[in-house]
Amino acid sequence: MTRIEVSLKKLEDRSYSIFVGHRCLAELERILSELELKGSVFIVTDDNTNELWARKIKKHLEHISECVKTISIPPGEEQKSLRTIEKLARKLINMEADRTSTLVAVGGGVIGDITGFLASIFLRGVAFINIPTTLLAQVDSSVGGKTGVDLVEGKNLVGTFYQPRLVFTDVDFLSTLPREEFLNGMAEVIKYGIIMDYDFFEFLEANVEKILGRDPDVLVKTVSHCCKLKRNVVEDDEKESGLRRILNFGHTIAHSVESASNYRVKHGWAVAVGMVAATLIAVGREIIEPDDARRIETLIGRFGLPVSLPENLSSELIINGLSFDKKRRKGVLHWVLPRKIGSVEVVTGITRGEIKNAIEKLQGKSL
Ligand SMILES: NC(=O)c1ccc[n+]([C@@H]2O[C@H](COP(=O)([O-])OP(=O)(O)OC[C@H]3O[C@@H](n4cnc5c(N)ncnc54)[C@H](O)[C@@H]3O)[C@@H](O)[C@H]2O)c1
Repeated sequence: MTRIEVSLKKLEDRSYSIFVGHRCLAELERILSELELKGSVFIVTDDNTNELWARKIKKHLEHISECVKTISIPPGEEQKSLRTIEKLARKLINMEADRTSTLVAVGGGVIGDITGFLASIFLRGVAFINIPTTLLAQVDSSVGGKTGVDLVEGKNLVGTFYQPRLVFTDVDFLSTLPREEFLNGMAEVIKYGIIMDYDFFEFLEANVEKILGRDPDVLVKTVSHCCKLKRNVVEDDEKESGLRRILNFGHTIAHSVESASNYRVKHGWAVAVGMVAATLIAVGREIIEPDDARRIETLIGRFGLPVSLPENLSSELIINGLSFDKKRRKGVLHWVLPRKIGSVEVVTGITRGEIKNAIEKLQGKSL
């Protein structure tokens, strides 16, 4: 038998920068010119963000490439499908995209996930730039290189790890974001404080009104700090084999609440109650002091996010939904529970009774 070694040890450097600012679109040309992109540029956006922002961004991109084209798709999670990927790939071929082309996502997490995935597989990989326009995309989905689409069987089941060449964030984009979408992102922002940064949690407590009033200076501080925190986690654990798991705080119950409500409960809302539920389980196990737990619940509530569940979402329905959570490994659910503000631990073996108890407390009662 002949043995042939295929040696691929040379590590590819996939480092990139995230730029965060306010009214900084004019700097886009200078920043992008440093990347020395060569070919045509394709903006992928949705019909909302095309009207609001992508047209403006296109004008700036025309300074770095002679050929800049836009592909706009309808907004919404339904677009995150393999069908959309095929349609977009065929469109790119018909528009004469080649291996030197760059795909630029302008939109929320849906557009970022679709465009990143497409960039990772189109012609076996082309350059990808992310310009996130929702708070959730700016603080979460644009950092870390997870891309993908949904299947009927569940969310994000097909995808890749593919890092962008650059992320460009202007908090001015958030000025047009509906309140509900803004709060969706706030749930993730609060999560960072609880899981890994006490000082940031205090910063949020001190700046609730300014953040809700979308004060640009406070937003730049908030978004850039969240990006740094997620950067720290991702640098340590790019492919989610360990530390990155702590980012799932609140998400175990959240996914189940979302599906039990037939996705009528928005993701950020579900994460908010999921974080309170995980905190209640931690209180029950005496992992966290009740005072810290109350502060967590209070901050979530001050931002206008829910800290209780509607009675019609039964604990049975939510608990049964847990078994479909993709974060289950080898039949074991990993729970991220707060130890104190700024620190969490990953726990297994939480009983059905503990979960039921926490959910029932959420249905009307407070901590
Ligand atoms: N890749 C990751 O690591 C990661 C992490 C978290 C979430 N996600 C994914 O992100 C997606 C959710 O992202 P999202 O919350 O940004 O939702 P989204 O992309 O659906 O955007 C929400 C809505 O806001 C509109 N919008 C976007 N920017 C706007 C702006 N500046 N002004 C006005 N309207 C604007 C969009 O058109 C859309 O209607 C989910 O598919 C989720 O799975 C991915």
